[in-house]
Amino acid sequence: MSRSGHPLFARAFHRLAALMERDLAKHRRALLAGLSGRVIEIGAGNGMNFRHYPGAVREVVALEPDPYLRSKAEAAARAAAVTVIVRDGVAEDLAPEDVGFDAAVASLVLCSVADQGRALAQLRCALKPGGELRFLEHVRAGRSRQGRIQALLDRSRLWPLVAGGCHCSRETVAAIVAAGYEIEQVRSFDVGPSWMHTNPHVLGTARPTPPPDPPRSPPAAQAPRPAPA
Ligand SMILES: C[S@@+](CC[C@H](N)C(=O)[O-])C[C@H]1O[C@@H](n2cnc3c(N)ncnc32)[C@H](O)[C@@H]1O
Repeated sequence: MSRSGHPLFARAFHRLAALMERDLAKHRRALLAGLSGRVIEIGAGNGMNFRHYPGAVREVVALEPDPYLRSKAEAAARAAAVTVIVRDGVAEDLAPEDVGFDAAVASLVLCSVADQGRALAQLRCALKPGGELRFLEHVRAGRSRQGRIQALLDRSRLWPLVAGGCHCSRETVAAIVAAGYEIEQVRSFDVGPSWMHTNPHVLGTARPTPPPDPPRSPPAAQAPRPAPA
């Protein structure tokens, strides 16, 4: 994303987000329910999640690359009941100090990141052992007609152009698994009419799978016995 972000999309999203909240608020609450400790949120937008963090969350580090949305997120952070630190940054390049988090939150952002695999790998490194990824994303509607239209919209670059780099045909749950997470739970639902190209949505929890055991070294070759005299 360029330094100036997506100025038109950012302003439109800020207005739309308030309207969408009627449908989305309960999903945001479910996304964040039960979290505690330190949390990193990528692509925080204008900070719509901040008011929904439970009191047991000690600190949220919220990254937002778009300057307009970041300024709105800073205002939302000041009004939040938990401590929220808003920073410039993209999910694909976390800072070296972004480690040791109890949870990572991705909501409506893995559709927009330039490189899903890299963003998910970065979040894996940011989590402390036992940490979890919470996600709320819209995804491709399978192999259906709707899914094919979504793929067409992405390939045409039309939807990404008007929607700040968003893609509506990403298979994000599969990408999470491919990035080395185990899905603990996931459910799917629609926001607004089911035929919309930004449906279905998925909400779930995933944890990094432990790295595989290193391969066992083969048994040392036995030295040939000396021939009897
Ligand atoms: C549709 S908005 C969602 C905002 C917020 N997460 C929410 O749930 O309302 C997508 C956000 O992702 C941000 N974004 C786009 N590319 C990103 C990247 N590579 N890393 C982090 N955030 C990104 C955009 O600036 C935008 O704020």
